[in-house]
Amino acid sequence: MKKLFFILIIVSIILNTSLLSYSDEKKDKKEKEEKHEKEEHKKGWEAVEKRYKHFENPQVCGGCHPEFFEEWKESKHSRSFTNNIFQGMYKLSLSDLKGNENIKDDINRCILCHSPSAFFAGDIPPTPDEDKLAERGIMCDFCHTVEGIKGALPHNGNFINNNGPDIDPKRGPWKDAKSPYHQTIYSELHTKSEFCGTCHNQKNSNGVWIQETYNEWKNSEWAKEGYQCQDCHMMGEGKSHPIISKEFMKADARQKTVTHRFPGFGSNVKIPDAVILKVSVNKPKAKLGEELIIKVSVTNKKAGHKFPSSSPNLRQLWLEINAIDNKKRAPILLKTDEEKPAPYDITSNTPAYKDIERDGLPEGNRIYHSVFVDKGNQHTYAFHDAAKMAFDNRLKPKETRIETYKWKIPEDTPVGEVIISAKLNYRSMPQSLSDYIEAGEMPITEVAYNEASVFVAK
Ligand code: HEC
Ligand code: HEC
Ligand code: HEC
Ligand code: HEC
Ligand code: HEC
Repeated sequence: MKKLFFILIIVSIILNTSLLSYSDEKKDKKEKEEKHEKEEHKKGWEAVEKRYKHFENPQVCGGCHPEFFEEWKESKHSRSFTNNIFQGMYKLSLSDLKGNENIKDDINRCILCHSPSAFFAGDIPPTPDEDKLAERGIMCDFCHTVEGIKGALPHNGNFINNNGPDIDPKRGPWKDAKSPYHQTIYSELHTKSEFCGTCHNQKNSNGVWIQETYNEWKNSEWAKEGYQCQDCHMMGEGKSHPIISKEFMKADARQKTVTHRFPGFGSNVKIPDAVILKVSVNKPKAKLGEELIIKVSVTNKKAGHKFPSSSPNLRQLWLEINAIDNKKRAPILLKTDEEKPAPYDITSNTPAYKDIERDGLPEGNRIYHSVFVDKGNQHTYAFHDAAKMAFDNRLKPKETRIETYKWKIPEDTPVGEVIISAKLNYRSMPQSLSDYIEAGEMPITEVAYNEASVFVAK
């Protein structure tokens, strides 16, 4: 018995050592492979990183231009790659790319506009976390080394940028700038809409204009009057962003206060009074059961392009009309009186793209936006899928739209004053879509408000 036990032990030792040596060999091979991979990646990455570093870090510029650095950090340009909405839609595009090489140009171009230094470094799709270089987004040293535009119409990232390994001259609006750190070159382009239009004008491979803020501006009264994007989005006395006067527009660059916050409804800073609402009711006094006719005028007073303008297939701008009685009971939502099923200009929660609720809002509100459909005529939110703009009712520059509502005063309304309130709301994208791409909570911002009152008697 003892002998057998002894033999068993010997056998198990032999077995174990051979197994061990086998697994050691495997481990060794794996380690070698990993090391080789790392070395190869390092070699490749060194070249990529070198090209990345043609663009100086914004912190360097911030050392001498601290105010612009702080403003830029608050702007959407600094978050153009990292923000959840971009990341969510970009991942959706990357997953569609598998199995459809035709859309490769469209998807590579996302990086050209959203993280130009990653594009020029050839880091597409950007390597996660590698020194976080792609996360710098649209930064100082990209914009201020743009030399020109390829072709006549600014669009699809057709800027010229030859930023090299040395410190390149910085281009800007001043004719007499002298800096101890970098050369300076006067650039008229930086004071003109064409500079912005290289990115804020986008057409996909199907020939569909995904967003055309530049084209909309070009065809507007504002452009004829000489207003540039910069005059509304980068200028202002006291940095409160009023739209500057015509006289001030002609002033020397040195007299203008420039901001790099780039205000907009998706940003922390907004241009006030962009859209104006006015509510009127057909009579000051009415009886229970009577029908009121309510008119709401909506004026795009200050946007130098349509509103909403960029990513118009995502943005939601909707009008909410409520009747609030004298006892302050729950407000009654007045719906547009159009027929069901709701067309695109009325909020609806019927399943749309990928079976997501279309608007994710109370139904029956007037909504201003545009809608794209794919080749199969299905509603789509993905830029690369869009084959046609199926609908567009956005507010044109300086346009006034009149919306009409009819409301039969319910018999149980308490006698006294009733307030008819109008609110214009903005959201970057439907919450339902945001949930789908995991972009988080989409806040609702009030763009404009107005109210009128009616005295209700028995
Ligand atoms: C989206 C492109 C863009 C980015 C990003 C950007 N700038 Fe500018 N910057 C401009 C434009 C355009 C002007 C000219 C505005 C005008 O005068 O019409 C300007 C003007 C300037 C000026 C001249 C100041 C003046 O009062 O006219 C300086 C200095 C400057 N930027 C530095 C910076 C720094 C530093 C950063 C980064 C923290 C930065 N910029 C980021 C586009 C950009
Ligand atoms: C020609 C330049 C250009 C290209 C190419 C481009 N974008 Fe954009 N993108 C923009 C501009 C400009 C905006 C900004 C507007 C705004 O904030 O409303 C924007 C906004 C967005 C937004 C909304 C972000 C937000 O904060 O609400 C998403 C999402 C987005 N782009 C995704 C993509 C994806 C995905 C691709 C590639 C399939 C792409 N973009 C290609 C210029 C571009
Ligand atoms: C060592 C300090 C210093 C650093 C670092 C620095 N700048 Fe400047 N920059 C200046 C000075 C000084 C001026 C000229 C100011 C004046 O004339 O009033 C200037 C002017 C400019 C102008 C205006 C050029 C024109 O002709 O309109 C731009 C644009 C600019 N810098 C961008 C940048 C960018 C981008 C970076 C980072 C890559 C940067 N600067 C880093 C000091 C610096
Ligand atoms: C390299 C491309 C690029 C250039 C050049 C550029 N932008 Fe942008 N801009 C973007 C992108 C991309 C976003 C959206 C970032 C995001 O949210 O993902 C944006 C966002 C904005 C926003 C914020 C909109 C909001 O919803 O709040 C404004 C305003 C804006 N840009 C104005 C300008 C103006 C004015 C210029 C010219 C002086 C300009 N941009 C130049 C790409 C660019
Ligand atoms: C006459 C002034 C004016 C001019 C010119 C102008 N904008 Fe705007 N822009 C606005 C106002 C007002 C808004 C609404 C947001 C706000 O009130 O903050 C806006 C909004 C935006 C937004 C936010 C997104 C959206 O859907 O509304 C972007 C991006 C933008 N503008 C880019 C540009 C670009 C690029 C140009 C030049 C081609 C330009 N703007 C010209 C006034 C102007």
